[in-house]
Amino acid sequence: MTDYRSNSRANERRLVTLDDVKQDPYIVAFMKRADEQMGLLGYTEHGGRHAGLVGNIGQNILLRLKYPERTAQLAAISGYLHDIGNVVHREEHAHTGAMIAMELLRRLHMDPEEIAIVMGAIGNHEEERGDPVGEVCAAVIIGDKSDVHRTRVRNPNTLAFDIHDRVNYAAQRSFVRVDGDRKAITLEVDIDTNISKVMEYFEIFMSRMLISRRAATFLGCAFEVVINKVRLL
Ligand SMILES: [Fe+2]
Ligand SMILES: [Fe+2]
Repeated sequence: MTDYRSNSRANERRLVTLDDVKQDPYIVAFMKRADEQMGLLGYTEHGGRHAGLVGNIGQNILLRLKYPERTAQLAAISGYLHDIGNVVHREEHAHTGAMIAMELLRRLHMDPEEIAIVMGAIGNHEEERGDPVGEVCAAVIIGDKSDVHRTRVRNPNTLAFDIHDRVNYAAQRSFVRVDGDRKAITLEVDIDTNISKVMEYFEIFMSRMLISRRAATFLGCAFEVVINKVRLL
């Protein structure tokens, strides 16, 4: 029987970076296929653009709130991987994604305690069942829920738009502003109201705004929403 305790490679630890994650062939293949499947099902873009952006926003939130550098890097990694579970199924993709991330990060020899943080962040990112279970998780939730943008729409036929396509297509700019002094996280969105009404935005984004507010509260911040320069929340 193999004694893994004497296997030095099994105990090897590495400081895994976002670049390591982005270059891993399994992660590349799984994320590519996950996005292809989401496309076939008619969902908006869930690929590298969304993944990278969520990671960036999450990292930026924690840096601006003066969390340690490595904590912010874990938000970048968790954000990048948060939707990888879509390679299995849209349903429960947060949970399958956490398990997939565990396997892949173990292969990269990430520290077990860091893997645990990433798993909790990915496993809790969805508004249906998620809860901000830590600062990394809270940052990933806000990054994910704030990504509404025209470039996410892949349906080329505007006549066949559903409400998600319409709201995303109408969003010409979305930005997460973090004010560390004021302890406020503000989601700014510019919506073309010829395409979608602000009400439609709230119709599909209300549950996302609520989990974002809980996430901001976890980080000791207020959560604000400004649409077309008007503060609505
Ligand atoms: Fe997701
Ligand atoms: Fe997502």
